[in-house]
Amino acid sequence: MNERSEPTNRSSNEIRFPEHFLWGAATAAYQIEGAARDDGRGRSIWDTFSRTPGKVYQGHTGDVACDHYHRYADDVALMAELGLRAYRFSVAWPRIQPDGTGPANPRGLDFYDRLTDALLDRGIDPIVTLYHWDLPQALGDRGGWTNRDTAEHFATYATAVYARLGDRIDVWTTLNEPWCSAYLGYANGLHAPGEQDPAAAFTAVHHLLLGHGLAARALRAAGARSVGITVNPADVRPADPQSAADAAAVRLVDGLHNRIFLDPLLAGGYPDDVREHVARIVEPTFIRDGDEKVIAAPIDLLGINYYAPSYVAGRPDGAGNGAYPGTEGAVHFLPPAGPLTDMGWMIEPAGLTRLLERIAADYPGVPLLITENGAAFPDKPGADSPDGPTQVIDADRIAYLDGHLRAAHEAISRGVDLRGYLVWSFLDNFEWAEGYRKRFGIVHVDYLTQRRTPKASARWYQEVISRNGL
Ligand code: FCB
Repeated sequence: MNERSEPTNRSSNEIRFPEHFLWGAATAAYQIEGAARDDGRGRSIWDTFSRTPGKVYQGHTGDVACDHYHRYADDVALMAELGLRAYRFSVAWPRIQPDGTGPANPRGLDFYDRLTDALLDRGIDPIVTLYHWDLPQALGDRGGWTNRDTAEHFATYATAVYARLGDRIDVWTTLNEPWCSAYLGYANGLHAPGEQDPAAAFTAVHHLLLGHGLAARALRAAGARSVGITVNPADVRPADPQSAADAAAVRLVDGLHNRIFLDPLLAGGYPDDVREHVARIVEPTFIRDGDEKVIAAPIDLLGINYYAPSYVAGRPDGAGNGAYPGTEGAVHFLPPAGPLTDMGWMIEPAGLTRLLERIAADYPGVPLLITENGAAFPDKPGADSPDGPTQVIDADRIAYLDGHLRAAHEAISRGVDLRGYLVWSFLDNFEWAEGYRKRFGIVHVDYLTQRRTPKASARWYQEVISRNGL
């Protein structure tokens, strides 16, 4: 049925997205591929971290994950069945350079070659992320992102991937969520490599940004036409909108979460207030002349990952948050309130509208793409019946996605140049420190049998895509 031919039937809350709006889904290598030892893949910091007792729920690892490495053809067929027009995946650096440097491993590249061709055969646009957190362990041993050389190595690796896939892939993104790599990896230690050293975290921020800049430059020199980066900007809100102390707390957290990345990327350099804050924790000798120029080279798109807002209050007795060095004694982070997802994250679609509008206003001129949005819920698969396979009726996920798509649409109608939406995630997968116990997929994965079952949300999304709206 072609909905567009029946305008009289439309209810008032029906919405349509712009023509050519890109609909798709996202995943990341370590979270789905498995095949941890196949075809010469080296070890990554996540292989090490997941084997470190106490770091990941019940010691889960990405060794097998969704076995996507072997099942990619069926997975791509399912994407096509669901009508996805774009698929964002990441390349595992340790498959391409097992030790992070040196010649590219052709067998590692072969996998992404096959995946790319399978996607193109089905008319699905591949969107590449070059780094979704699986740093080769050999580079981790040399300090990881606290070592400036890692930024240079990243550009070399990016060039090797481009050399193989650049003829078929249009959209290239460098990093996924450098905030997580730097602060969860080096400040509060929740993610690999699990360090708790604020000075290291700020050093990593800079080297990640530098790595982005060097890789973007290398990709462009090699001929890439669309180069971007994905960030996870926070919608930071004051507990009390009237309070000056809360406004100051918002400013501080916004600086550490958002402007420390977005200003160098899109406004020419680090903001003064953030520089001053960082300098109280570590002397920023790691920022060298010319670095900011490299980081600020124009990009063609900015990927936005959005899940939840955060609320803060300015308080001298505030405990702060280990992920935001220097907020202790200044900021109280409010516990999430209201409806929550299975991650304990607030459900607040309006935060997405605010965030998109704010980025469009403060950093004008760069097209935006929602590279991740979605929710974990404790899905309860029904039993198989003689009439058909397991059903997963995930009404809560549908409601979450519906609310956030409406919020995205609202931003578009207020003038934001939003080009597309990629749901996180195509499959249930390895949710980092939470292991397999949190399910974000629109497709259910039975980890014992590797059977895929599209959830009700997948069928709903299929319908959204075919209508280009809700
Ligand atoms: C994002 C990550 C992604 C996934 C979602 C839930 O921070 O980029 O890999 O874990 O959160």
